[in-house]
Amino acid sequence: MTGPTPHVLFVDDEPALRAIMAERLRDRGFEVVEAESGEKALDLLEQFAFDIIITDLRMPGVDGGRVIESAVGRYPGIVAIVITGYGTIKDAVDAIKRGASDFIAKPFQFDELMHVLDKALEQRRLTSENAYLRSQLEERYQFGGILGRSRPMQDLFHLLETVARSASTILITGETGTGKEVVARAIHHNSPRRAHRFVALNCSAIPETLLEAELFGHVRGAFTGAVGTRQGRFEQAHKGTLFLDEVGTMSASLQVKLLRALQEREFERVGDNQTIKVDVRVIAATNSDLARMAAEGSFREDLYYRLNVIPIQLPPLRDRRDDIPLLVTHFLAKFAPGSQLHASQSAMRALMAFDWPGNVRQLENAMERAVALCAGRSEIDVADLPPELQHAPDASRPPYVEFPEEGLDLPRYLAVIERDLIQRALDRTRGNRNRAADLLRIKRTTLVEKLRRIGAER
Ligand SMILES: Nc1ncnc2c1ncn2[C@@H]1O[C@H](COP(=O)(O)OP(=O)(O)O)[C@@H](O)[C@H]1O
Ligand SMILES: [Mg+2]
Repeated sequence: MTGPTPHVLFVDDEPALRAIMAERLRDRGFEVVEAESGEKALDLLEQFAFDIIITDLRMPGVDGGRVIESAVGRYPGIVAIVITGYGTIKDAVDAIKRGASDFIAKPFQFDELMHVLDKALEQRRLTSENAYLRSQLEERYQFGGILGRSRPMQDLFHLLETVARSASTILITGETGTGKEVVARAIHHNSPRRAHRFVALNCSAIPETLLEAELFGHVRGAFTGAVGTRQGRFEQAHKGTLFLDEVGTMSASLQVKLLRALQEREFERVGDNQTIKVDVRVIAATNSDLARMAAEGSFREDLYYRLNVIPIQLPPLRDRRDDIPLLVTHFLAKFAPGSQLHASQSAMRALMAFDWPGNVRQLENAMERAVALCAGRSEIDVADLPPELQHAPDASRPPYVEFPEEGLDLPRYLAVIERDLIQRALDRTRGNRNRAADLLRIKRTTLVEKLRRIGAER
């Protein structure tokens, strides 16, 4: 037997049988506690979480059925086997209904008992393996801390697995808050470079004049204030990964220097002429359209191609709304650890309907705020969400409409509203019917049908 010793509770009012079976079970490596009655068994069950219970069915006082019920109720994972004194199927079936795994009829040999027990243990092993597989499945909704169950995110996880193994330069594009930095970190932590440093530098957060020194380091006296010699981020990231965020904001002269560092894997510290060689994997990120900037000449085309060896595009959150419930659960657990906090149906509807210009970061902030506002309640409600979400359409609360004195023609009125909303959805998606249908939560075919009818009416 492998694993910890299984603890067996053996219940039978027949002392001889009990003693013999208990002894043989002990020979097989089980830890056995004996009980001579149902009452005693209930007592023992209260005190200890047995792995296995084997009990006679017919006993004076508390019978085996009740013992099984109590054991299974208390320890759902317990393996329960009943011994039937009469061999009647009915008793056995009854016990199985109460949660027993199997039964064995008296008189029986020890080997028969072992056979039944092995089968039940195997069964339980499979069940817990299923639970394990399920948890594995949930694991697949994330990659190195990036959560996502939507198609685009699942595709991204596959891509990341592959690119993490390579040393190629990566360019991550995506709106602010889509997770560019989390993705860069996940790549590093799943790469062969994970034992070395992940060094991040936000190119837009540092004044142009200092950025070069920040990247490549400087020697003493290289510029006013350069009191000592300092390593740059490239050197710090040696053998590891350098993450250059907002790379689109870099000046033309610095772009040349970065290009050389990428091509030759060498550079000089500011104010020095000694060449330094490094082994660094570069991951760059930008929320601007670098391809367009390169075409227009505001970003070096050669540098763009150097960076864009492996392009990764992060879709905005509004294009992967399937991820919203997963992220909401994750952030609520993050900001209210250990609580059962969840979003109400109408709050979740508002969260799903919102366009999230700030993407996941904005959602994260909204959840932090909601946790603070809901003050210990177990449910986040619409009122706990930021104001801009409360104006999002909520199907359960219709917009206020003027009801004319003389009444109105309901079907025509609704048709006008419908037409207006469809038109606005199409405007928003620049005529893309798939996305308009998504925004309206209807099937594309339904939308097409409605458009046909509207056209016919006109
Ligand atoms: N897919 C995701 N799963 C979990 N958290 C995410 C995800 N995407 C973004 N975040 C979180 O949102 C915030 C913004 O992400 P970040 O990587 O800084 O975005 P970006 O660099 O694109 O502006 C971070 O707190 C990050 O942890
Ligand atoms: Mg960022």
